Amino acid sequence: MTNTTTATNATPTNATNVTAIGQTEIPSHPLPSYLNPNDLGPWGTFLQQVDRVTPYLGNLSRWVETLKRPKRILVVDVPIFLDNGTVAHFEGYRVQHNTSRGPGKGGVRFHQDVTLSEVMALSAWMSIKNAAVNVPYGGAKGGIRVDPRKLSIGELERVTRRYTSEIGIIIGPSKDIPAPDVNTNEKIMAWMMDTYSMNQGTTSTGVVTGKPIDLGGSLGRREATGRGVFTVGVQAAQRIGLPIEGARVAVQGMGNVGGVAARLFSEAGARVVAAQDHGGSIYNEAGLNMPALLEHVSKTGTVAGFEDAEVLANEAFWQTPCDILIPAALEGQITELNAHQIQARMVIEGANGPTTPHADDILNDRGVLIVPDVIANAGGVTVSYFEWVQDFSSFFWSEEEINKRLVDIMKGALDAIWQVSAEHNVSLRTATFIVACKRILHARDLRGLYP
Ligand SMILES: NC(=O)c1ccc[n+]([C@@H]2O[C@H](COP(=O)([O-])OP(=O)(O)OC[C@H]3O[C@@H](n4cnc5c(N)ncnc54)[C@H](O)[C@@H]3O)[C@@H](O)[C@H]2O)c1
Repeated sequence: MTNTTTATNATPTNATNVTAIGQTEIPSHPLPSYLNPNDLGPWGTFLQQVDRVTPYLGNLSRWVETLKRPKRILVVDVPIFLDNGTVAHFEGYRVQHNTSRGPGKGGVRFHQDVTLSEVMALSAWMSIKNAAVNVPYGGAKGGIRVDPRKLSIGELERVTRRYTSEIGIIIGPSKDIPAPDVNTNEKIMAWMMDTYSMNQGTTSTGVVTGKPIDLGGSLGRREATGRGVFTVGVQAAQRIGLPIEGARVAVQGMGNVGGVAARLFSEAGARVVAAQDHGGSIYNEAGLNMPALLEHVSKTGTVAGFEDAEVLANEAFWQTPCDILIPAALEGQITELNAHQIQARMVIEGANGPTTPHADDILNDRGVLIVPDVIANAGGVTVSYFEWVQDFSSFFWSEEEINKRLVDIMKGALDAIWQVSAEHNVSLRTATFIVACKRILHARDLRGLYP
């Protein structure tokens, strides 16, 4: 019997809390008390994904419960002085999902809607992603419930520094290494690195990745996630006989990931026909002028108002006639409500968790190929790994070398996953989970439990 706890049927039980190591029976476990079984959020999606992969884990499935609860959760209060002299409090998190294969690794998100469930799921997807591309990290993630657009630059710095001090007790170059995510960037990484370093009394460049080049950052890191999306996208397109030249691409999110991926596809001859972000949606059948659009976004913060395009209703974005759809904004964007309308042959998940499990099934049934987040957007963490290695040795590589190593790792990982997908006749997502969960649980098995 395998564990069947899912987002839909998960209810707290009084079942034993002892994992039956060495036995074939795996007892059902209650959900942790801090979760609401009726509203598991993104964490529920992750639990369903683990349940789907469990039958393929063989003997290692006896360890699968370790994946269903994060190793460590830190919830912190982040008080700061606002510019008007009052004190505001924000809720912050750092979750270390699994560290069997190495230190925690994962970004920090600043967003008003961040929840613990979301950060838990994002940390777990980091465990899977790091194992899928075989970098020696566990999975972690952090976040603050704050809308950074409402803060002045001084307030943003104070929130970042106080949060870093609060989570400083569990992060560190060999413990857990944060990086940028939604609404965080190089500048914020510089403040995090400085705060941690000042508290430690030593310059510690390896505590975060995604730093400015002059502070131990890596060439190629800013573009790495988008480049990885592009690399696996091209590989997958080749395998299904979809030429990139002339392919129509729709992209949700014109930030770090979506903007770079869109530009690279456009440079390779594809037509980026539609774009959506928090400000609105635009369309141009002939293909959006990417350099001009990216300049517009960097000036105004949104695709809305771009002159050389038609305005599209936000719901209509999902029905755009296109060959490749790249969700590169937030999770839970492709649902059972819009999955039927998607016209693309291939979805490349630049964002983390953009497709709900139900929508995943609908798209799979309709023959739409999904290149899942846990491989498609792993380019960022791969170059973060390069950055961390360079910081340890204080010896820096050329951009050419970095991009070559990145492309080699991404191609190799996709090849391996494609093979597992064909072997077991499962989706690329399940195949990625099979490869990754086996690596994580094998490490757990080798290490055993201590104390
Ligand atoms: N930055 C990285 O290296 C990296 C690595 C792996 C995964 N990711 C994931 O990629 C996604 C995007 O991250 P990013 O770094 O590009 O963030 P970003 O802040 O640079 O860009 C986010 C984009 O999403 C858009 N957006 C926000 N809310 C939206 C909404 N409600 N509807 C439509 N668009 C909306 C924003 O306008 C912006 O264009 C996230 O899911 C993140 O976790 C990022």
